[in-house]
Amino acid sequence: MDVLIAGVMAYLLGSLSFSYIITQKVKKVDIRQYGSGNAGATNTLRVLGKGPAILVLALDCIKGILAVWFGHGAEAVFMGTGLSLFEGYPGWAPAICGLLAIFGHNWPIFHRFRGGKGVATTIGVIAALIFFPAVYVGIVAILAVVLTRYVSLGSIIFAAGTPFLVFFTMDYYDHPWPYFYLACVVGVMSLWRHRTNMQRLVRGNESKLGQ
Ligand code: G3P
Repeated sequence: MDVLIAGVMAYLLGSLSFSYIITQKVKKVDIRQYGSGNAGATNTLRVLGKGPAILVLALDCIKGILAVWFGHGAEAVFMGTGLSLFEGYPGWAPAICGLLAIFGHNWPIFHRFRGGKGVATTIGVIAALIFFPAVYVGIVAILAVVLTRYVSLGSIIFAAGTPFLVFFTMDYYDHPWPYFYLACVVGVMSLWRHRTNMQRLVRGNESKLGQ
């Protein structure tokens, strides 16, 4: 029951594409027809500018944090009642809810399943579950963006680096295994969603921040 109820809520919340909603409201355009065509904060920066982009980044991030809370809440309510799908296995409900929020962001039911690449929502999910490893990888990713001005490179570093850092700090922070599995699935999914960015990075024609 826990994952069924909280998971559906997490997916629906993730499906609220704030870049789409805000660009529609402000400019009456579909963000997916402009810039990189991605429904995310980076493309909002291209289409609407700094303020709206920061707002989208924050809201997409908060979606991830809330989804993890749904999972923790459901676990707290159902674990021990015999109604939990993961009875005796803590960590699965928040991890699955986080994953479903990212799924919702990437393939949103409210926007014909055409969403973004899930980076901001992933940051929210990972930060809510495994704060310190997320901060370390986040610092490296931000440095990469500052030095190269490629946001996608920072996203790729965050996606690829998180599973490794979670794995190597697992004992120290006492994270349950589902968090590591989540980081792996999300990492692969994010790299897949960035495949055209990677091709552009290799070719040298990826757009830089501010371009
Ligand atoms: O978060 C998405 C970012 O990594 C790349 O966005 O619009 O340049 O494809 P974009």
